[in-house]
Amino acid sequence: MAGSAPAVLVTGGAGYIGSHAAKALDHAGYRVIVYDNLVAGHRAAVKYGELVEGDIADVSSLRAVMRQHEVVGVMHFAAFLDVGESVRDPIRYYRNNVIGALGVLEAMAAENVRNFVFSSTCATYGEPLETPITEAHPQKPINSYGETKLAVEHALPHLQAAHGICWIALRYFNASGADPEGEIGEDHSPEIHLIPRTIEAATGGRGLHVFGDDYPTPDGTCLRDYVHVTDLADAHVRALEALRETGKSGAYNLGTGRPHSVRQVIDAVERVTGRTVPWSLAPRRPGDPAVLFASAQKAHAELHWTPQYADLDTIVRTAWDWHRTHPQGYDHQ
Ligand SMILES: NC(=O)c1ccc[n+]([C@@H]2O[C@H](COP(=O)([O-])OP(=O)(O)OC[C@H]3O[C@@H](n4cnc5c(N)ncnc54)[C@H](O)[C@@H]3O)[C@@H](O)[C@H]2O)c1
Repeated sequence: MAGSAPAVLVTGGAGYIGSHAAKALDHAGYRVIVYDNLVAGHRAAVKYGELVEGDIADVSSLRAVMRQHEVVGVMHFAAFLDVGESVRDPIRYYRNNVIGALGVLEAMAAENVRNFVFSSTCATYGEPLETPITEAHPQKPINSYGETKLAVEHALPHLQAAHGICWIALRYFNASGADPEGEIGEDHSPEIHLIPRTIEAATGGRGLHVFGDDYPTPDGTCLRDYVHVTDLADAHVRALEALRETGKSGAYNLGTGRPHSVRQVIDAVERVTGRTVPWSLAPRRPGDPAVLFASAQKAHAELHWTPQYADLDTIVRTAWDWHRTHPQGYDHQ
């Protein structure tokens, strides 16, 4: 059933970042096959390409899909990503994030699929020794979520040597915002990310806790690097194309390099929504570094990637547009 356009398998493509990558792939002329078990994704998020319902643990199903569609590459988003839950239930995280990823790679090896773009994370770095963080910064995760992603990164060169799978690991900082055209957005349950949580608080939902205001930062709250999901999607297409052209493997940070504090996010949400954000101060959370932000120079130089939606108010505005048009997320459109 292979058509003329090259096909790409997007595991986790019914989720937040994967659905945006599917749109970017479609716009770049690829045929998109989303492979997702919908454990955290949404059927309605698959607006580009075909949805195959399946689990990444099912290697024979993955192989059949790769063979049927003659896929030229895989973007692997499917994983669990709640740091707190990963500390409470590491087995679940190792099983899905490490064994699951190995299932995808095993299927690729068996079907001779050569290009692998992997969703990694700044959580692989752990406590920063210096900022901005470059790809050369030591990787010492401080939670099992970060360890699971690093375990996959460490496996990749061995799989390349044994099976010829070229790979790019993209280490995202804080994914945020929503499709500027309003077709897809962020719908995690429970929501754990700061910008949608702040919007939720502004619209009468759960109140917001600010974890610590005595960090060594200008306003005392933590600084993070918010990178727009459409910019992440664009970087994935660039990574795939670089792999197909050069076969050069490597890891790249994806961030804007411009840190914003929790207070600045609250102020931006108040500005953009015109509403007050009720929040209360809570104790620091263990393992929250004061400052985390990326140097994305390598992605800029080698993938020619420049974030187009780097401004915080723009990021918040796209998230707000999605939220106010989909107050219940995908389920009640
Ligand atoms: N959101 C962030 O800020 C962030 C930051 C760094 C890295 N990441 C990584 O990016 C990726 C995507 O994150 P997201 O925010 O889009 O998460 P998400 O939960 O919205 O999407 C993950 C998707 O994977 C699917 N999935 C999970 N386990 C599966 C399995 N066993 N088989 C098939 N499908 C499965 C889920 O149903 C969901 O659709 C993850 O790998 C995550 O670790 C996310």
